[in-house]
Amino acid sequence: MSLQEKHKFHSPKETADFAGRFAEKLHAGDVVAFYGELGAGKTFMIKHICRGLKCIEEPTSPSFTLINQYHTPQGIDIYHFDFYRLEHEAELANLGIDDFLYNDNICLIEWADKIQSFLPSQRYDIFIRFLTDDPEAREIEIQHHGDYEESS
Ligand SMILES: Nc1ncnc2c1ncn2[C@@H]1O[C@H](COP(=O)(O)OP(=O)(O)O)[C@@H](O)[C@H]1O
Ligand SMILES: [Mg+2]
Repeated sequence: MSLQEKHKFHSPKETADFAGRFAEKLHAGDVVAFYGELGAGKTFMIKHICRGLKCIEEPTSPSFTLINQYHTPQGIDIYHFDFYRLEHEAELANLGIDDFLYNDNICLIEWADKIQSFLPSQRYDIFIRFLTDDPEAREIEIQHHGDYEESS
């Protein structure tokens, strides 16, 4: 089953507030795949999701490290991936990515299109798109694939 919602936001604050509300829906084991051009707001949303999860560390962009790990007071680890620099899925062989994706942590993945064949079928997909010529406007589409529990 797949559910979809689409929003238009006109400022970073609107996106940040939405990310905070989205964080409340996340549970251990969830995977969230982000799609969008450079500067769309993937890292920005992840920062605010992590804030919503009361993450102990301040998230930073893992463009060079591929993966950052953060901790929450509830004991759920958050793995933040950025596959911008990944050229071939084969490079992932050594990362053991399945151990992260099928586990009791929360995975937040930038440039998820680059690892499409690794993504679990149960996941959230978040597409962030620029709107018109307003640099602070974004369309954010969320698709939830998998067992759906509630509609709030
Ligand atoms: N409505 C908005 N929602 C999200 N980010 C916005 C918005 N308007 C402006 N921005 C800015 O866009 C930038 C997004 O950067 P970033 O999150 O690093 O992009 P990405 O990780 O997708 O490459 C941030 O500087 C943020 O402040
Ligand atoms: Mg980024």
